[in-house]
Amino acid sequence: MCEVIVKNILVTGSAGFIGFHLTLHLLQMGLKVTGVDALTDYYDVELKKKRLSILQEYSSYQHTTIRLEDKKKLLSVCEESQAEVIVHLAAQAGVRYSIDHPNEYLDTNITGTFNILECARITRVKHLLMASTSSVYGANTSLPFDESQHTDNPLTFYAATKKCGEIMAHSYSHLFELPITVFRFFTVYGPWGRPDMALFKFTQCILNGDPIDIYNGGEMYRDFTYVADLTQAIILLLERIPRRTLENDYDENASSVAPFRIVNIGNSEKVKLMDFIEAIEDSLHMKAKKNYLPMQQGDVPATWADCTLLKNLTGYQPQTHYSDGILEFVNWYREFYFHSI
Ligand SMILES: NC(=O)c1ccc[n+]([C@@H]2O[C@H](COP(=O)([O-])OP(=O)(O)OC[C@H]3O[C@@H](n4cnc5c(N)ncnc54)[C@H](O)[C@@H]3O)[C@@H](O)[C@H]2O)c1
Repeated sequence: MCEVIVKNILVTGSAGFIGFHLTLHLLQMGLKVTGVDALTDYYDVELKKKRLSILQEYSSYQHTTIRLEDKKKLLSVCEESQAEVIVHLAAQAGVRYSIDHPNEYLDTNITGTFNILECARITRVKHLLMASTSSVYGANTSLPFDESQHTDNPLTFYAATKKCGEIMAHSYSHLFELPITVFRFFTVYGPWGRPDMALFKFTQCILNGDPIDIYNGGEMYRDFTYVADLTQAIILLLERIPRRTLENDYDENASSVAPFRIVNIGNSEKVKLMDFIEAIEDSLHMKAKKNYLPMQQGDVPATWADCTLLKNLTGYQPQTHYSDGILEFVNWYREFYFHSI
């Protein structure tokens, strides 16, 4: 476990999949955490409430249910918390949903993120860390993706709003000398995961005897990141506060005009979707009925993270093998929904 000097953190999206894991880890390390989450109904609110009830067992956890768009209330929560660091994870996530529901992405990911930048500016936090996504690499075909690649051609509105968050953050970092780290996450999975994501849906369908939808004839590759590895990487990055890179004062991959950097967090492994599915079948001891479909609109055939920068900054590299991570998820799923392993 890393040495953390920061003691008081505000996490947005704390009832969400990644926010829950991160917050729990921070609380277990003895830190004070203020959580902000609107418990939106994008997916099962009961799952979010259950995560929240676990966090609320800690007296060092303080929760507020508000939307990020409510700037006045958000600012008062930030001020009252006296947090030294903000980790901004709340978002309207999901690639496919953004095709039919763009407004939700605009409100949360752009207006909400702008409000977080404002709160960070006003309260002068030591470090703002915020989540972006591998989706910003769009249709880039040069694999693995590294942070210096061109990301101006998003394929979905979700990716466009996350990219917008990145560039708004750079301008705030420059204008107000606000230290900001942006993470680009690659397909995160694990216990307490999101019901709209493949692992959750596939597990549910296989157990119900329903067919699973496999796009692009299964010719899909993802860099799957186990959630405990991801939270460990975030915790290590909390104290890697970027400095603007000046001549004779090089700070790894930081902007030359702002205390700002972007860091990929992935497993650095390109896994074929069919191998991932086979590992789910093995964990469940059941075979999936497979429904092969063409490529979906906005989808990309492959993602793969170059995590050299993360390794250079923290000495750490996520490495849970997907078959181990899937087994952890399946055990959690059986226990949570059927009280059996
Ligand atoms: N899970 C992944 O594979 C993945 C991959 C790339 C990037 N990300 C990013 O990581 C972050 C966390 O994702 P996640 O998988 O935990 O998603 P999640 O949907 O489980 O969590 C997001 C949380 O934000 C809350 N929220 C949504 N809109 C809000 C609003 N307007 N105000 C306040 N709260 C709001 C939701 O209630 C939810 O609990 C997001 O920024 C997402 O874009 C996730």
